[in-house]
Amino acid sequence: METKIDIAGVVLETERLLLRPFQDSDLDDFFAYASVPGVGEMAGWAHHRTREDSRTVLSRFMEERDVFAIVHKRDGKVIGSVGVHDSWATQDAQYSGLRIKDLGFVLSKDYWGQGLMPEAARIVIDYCFRELGLDALTCGHFVENTRSQRVIEKLGFHYVKTLKLHARTLGKRFDTKCYILFKTSTSRVDREPAQR
Ligand SMILES: CC(C)(COP(=O)(O)OP(=O)(O)OC[C@H]1O[C@@H](n2cnc3c(N)ncnc32)[C@H](O)[C@@H]1OP(=O)(O)O)[C@@H](O)C(=O)NCCC(=O)NCCS
Repeated sequence: METKIDIAGVVLETERLLLRPFQDSDLDDFFAYASVPGVGEMAGWAHHRTREDSRTVLSRFMEERDVFAIVHKRDGKVIGSVGVHDSWATQDAQYSGLRIKDLGFVLSKDYWGQGLMPEAARIVIDYCFRELGLDALTCGHFVENTRSQRVIEKLGFHYVKTLKLHARTLGKRFDTKCYILFKTSTSRVDREPAQR
């Protein structure tokens, strides 16, 4: 079932992070992490070569209003994103009639390994179920992306199947492991402390 997402004006807070819509002034921070080779590539997009690349994507985020910027409270910088996008599951008869979206996320390489993405994703999941009334969320990772796999597992998603998905800016298809999390199984998310 089609569900329109609009995060305009939404601010979510965790112990270490703020999540809010992207704004023009985020360009420098966005370019700083999106231009590092090997970060976007794990999420299906080529790293940005110029600030113009980042400006184009930033404008799209602001227009489509479905991607949160992750702000590190202590450092005052935008260090990543969590997006709520269309899901493969809406085309799957098994899930017909359900309101389902797909979570996508990226974090600046400088901040990996501190449990920040699980912290950010948990609050977005909570928002999706409590405020948007979604029935389920999907999430996926390229088979070799074990870091993302760990995040998805820690969030409580269940493996469904492996699909060959096309990454447009990389011009390639990747074996992608796809997972789902239903609203009724969010108690684990709610119980998890904000910080590891
Ligand atoms: C995947 C990603 C979001 C993980 O975020 P994170 O905040 O570092 O997540 P965590 O701290 O929970 O670490 C996840 C796993 O990464 C590994 N890891 C931890 N520190 C690491 C480091 N410094 N370098 C590499 N890997 C590390 C560990 O296996 C860890 O799992 P564990 O908690 O069971 O030990 C981040 O690595 C990233 O943005 N990668 C590139 C984009 C991407 O893959 N997006 C997801 C697309 S589906």
